[in-house]
Amino acid sequence: MTRSTMDFGIDLGTTNSAIAVLDGTDARIVKNAFGHDTTPSAVFADRTGRIHVGARARERVESDPANAAAEFKLRMGLRDQAKSFANSGLALSPEELSAHVLRALRANVTQQMGEEIRAAVITVPAAFELNQTDATRRAAEAAGLELSPLLQEPTAAALAYSFQRDEDNIYRLVFDLGGGTFDASIVHIRDGEFDIVNHRGDNFLGGKLIDWAIVEQLLIPALLRQHSLPGFGRGEPTWAQAIAKLKAAAENAKIELSSSPTALIDISEPPLCTDADGNPVEFVHELHAADVEALTEPFVARAVNICHAALAESQLAPEKIDRVLLVGGPTLMPYLRRRLAEGLGIELDVSQDPMTVVARGAAIFAGTQRLPVGPTRPDVSFTVDLEYKPIGSDPTPLVGGVVRGPSGRSLEGFTIELVNADARPPWRSGKITLPATGSFVTTLRAEPERRNVYSIVLESPTGGGERIQPSELTYTLGVVAPAATLTHSIGVGLSGNEVAWLLEKGTRIPARGHEILRSTVRLVRGQSGGLLRIPILEGEHARADRNRQVGSLEILAAEVARDIPPNSEIEVDIEIDGSRLVTTRAFVPILEEDFETVHDLTTERAPDPAELRRALEAERRRLADLRSGARRTGDPAAQAILDALDDEQVVDQIENDVASTEHGDTDAASTAGKRMLDLRAKLDDVEHALEWPSLVELANRVLADAPGLIEEYGDAKDRKRHERIAAEVRRALDGRDAAHLRILVDELTAHLAIMVDRKTGAVVMARFSQLVERRAELRDQALANRLITEGQRAVDANDTERLRAVIRQLLELLPDTDRGSESEDFSNVYKSR
Ligand SMILES: Nc1ncnc2c1ncn2[C@@H]1O[C@H](COP(=O)(O)OP(=O)(O)OP(=O)(O)O)[C@@H](O)[C@H]1O
Ligand SMILES: [Mg+2]
Repeated sequence: MTRSTMDFGIDLGTTNSAIAVLDGTDARIVKNAFGHDTTPSAVFADRTGRIHVGARARERVESDPANAAAEFKLRMGLRDQAKSFANSGLALSPEELSAHVLRALRANVTQQMGEEIRAAVITVPAAFELNQTDATRRAAEAAGLELSPLLQEPTAAALAYSFQRDEDNIYRLVFDLGGGTFDASIVHIRDGEFDIVNHRGDNFLGGKLIDWAIVEQLLIPALLRQHSLPGFGRGEPTWAQAIAKLKAAAENAKIELSSSPTALIDISEPPLCTDADGNPVEFVHELHAADVEALTEPFVARAVNICHAALAESQLAPEKIDRVLLVGGPTLMPYLRRRLAEGLGIELDVSQDPMTVVARGAAIFAGTQRLPVGPTRPDVSFTVDLEYKPIGSDPTPLVGGVVRGPSGRSLEGFTIELVNADARPPWRSGKITLPATGSFVTTLRAEPERRNVYSIVLESPTGGGERIQPSELTYTLGVVAPAATLTHSIGVGLSGNEVAWLLEKGTRIPARGHEILRSTVRLVRGQSGGLLRIPILEGEHARADRNRQVGSLEILAAEVARDIPPNSEIEVDIEIDGSRLVTTRAFVPILEEDFETVHDLTTERAPDPAELRRALEAERRRLADLRSGARRTGDPAAQAILDALDDEQVVDQIENDVASTEHGDTDAASTAGKRMLDLRAKLDDVEHALEWPSLVELANRVLADAPGLIEEYGDAKDRKRHERIAAEVRRALDGRDAAHLRILVDELTAHLAIMVDRKTGAVVMARFSQLVERRAELRDQALANRLITEGQRAVDANDTERLRAVIRQLLELLPDTDRGSESEDFSNVYKSR
């Protein structure tokens, strides 16, 4: 069969993967060789280097961890994460491991359907960051998929839930909790199309965290009460196999507890491990649903809070949401369903199998993706380029096309007709007479609930049938998925820890952002190691270091034709395609040259344990200070954020992950790093909330003082400028926008100071005294002394112009650290206001 649309969709999951095909209007799973819907995302390499994927590989992760790998999805896009397989000597990166899973899924199709597929839609978590998305694309390529549009998992799920339903103007919340990632998306269905209204997610939240919590908080303590096993813990190489067995047992027990109140863990044959004296260690332990529920609670709380945040951000009350669509294995837990229904107050929709709904949705989306027409067959002399959408909500869609004959032959007098022979009664468009150019437009009539197939019939002016390629097209009535949108803003880091966002969260993609920046330092041509660095950031925070750095655009001294002086314009472009793949470019007008050297856009190291420990201790201290601040002031906004942190047990979770990281667990390091960023941002918010009263007081004081100062020192222009800023200050006060208010108050104060300084020189005088105090630090002492004497004369003569010139020269003599050490700077660009 030759397909005109892609039709195959793959859910490449952390724990399980699946492939589905769109068959008419039915998206169905293609089972694996064992007759299962899903295939564990696990890889085993045998002694000869042969790769095995699926359930057997999954079992090997416990019995033979040195030769098997699982849960590598979240490590895609990270550097230095290759897994070594001891017996075969192979080393495979997370991308290569994923490629093997994709190959296995392709092979299922060949085996079950006799089809070799070269194109399939692949889903990724909406919360995936750019480096992870890019790694997924590379994995698909390595697996022999020439075309692999990426689709966000919640979009796929929503599509499967809505495809053939006739509903209008409703909102739904997709709750997708998988093995390793969580996505919450709000979708709006209207006029046969749906839109992702908002999305929030957490790449480090999923069933496997529950498994680890069971291992660390229930099983290991129980084991150590019975046996003496020195140093037993996660990340310890000696105990890796025993830990892997406990983890697998924990997962199985957790799944069993979804349908029974207790589950027995019995690891006695073969035993779990041997103790220090070489005696076998057997481990038998009964788990109760209530114990596991208590461990699950912080994760559910976090997921529910994320949903509320997504709703609040979109200004949608829970009553506005028709239903919650459940996706992912952990949503099979009765406790989770109860907690979710209570915590959100929205009805749950459990009509689809949560384990396969993403793959089936991906297949539906694949039905909208047209495949390029293959090479023209030798017995065919006419081709047609078609313009139409294979799936849509319009029962009478438009189709356009251009027919081409052999070596530009005129098509004058030819006719074309579209025929749906399977329709009851059969449907024909009627013969359309072509002009010399061969172009035509017509409307189809489509029947619901099936894939309508239209043969394309071409006749010559004498009425003879001609072969044409393609010879048919298909159209299906159904809800269509939206263009993808950005789930994080993308921008560049500026000097001074600021950010310029080029593409905002929610922007429809493909898209392109553009910004004109200026350099902070001089780039000297050919200087060894010299560069201008422009960090590329992904996230939402106004402070640059609260976002993830996904790469950095670098202009190297070795590449430039001439020096780039400070304050030179640099135009930055960021382009993102429909699969969220990014290209960045810097254009330097004075050189008339483009630079595209991207350092590390796709790879980032997992954070270092010692660094994590230091950061955690620092945030703990900050948290304690902020807690007492919140108690003192009784500020409700600050208290609400602190309460949410407590409910989610954020600090304890980070503590656990950091402890595992210290034992060498890189997965835990990534989780801890991500959580730390979130914690910092939350504490920033608390800080802002607490500073609010004093900030308000300051703003009001400046607003009150301003008119008098303008009266005395200013002119009409100053009054105008003041009025503009003052209006913005009032807006920020009304909107409780602390971050913006701080900037505005600074701006207002600076404006007033400059105005007063113009008349009196007061600021210049103050700046000069500061520099005199730092006399000893200045570099050229003889020159410094001369300048200071000259400055004092200027002060005596009340000559502010001369004083300003002296200050400029004195600033040059300050040690480097004060002026920002050049190549060490996080960013070498700023945005002029
Ligand atoms: N009946 C069940 N009760 C509780 N948990 C379950 C059940 N069935 C599966 N799980 C858990 O669901 C998780 C796997 O879910 P799923 O297959 O949806 O994830 P995934 O698609 O592989 O992951 P992701 O979407 O994060 O990439 C595992 O943690 C598994 O233990
Ligand atoms: Mg999933």
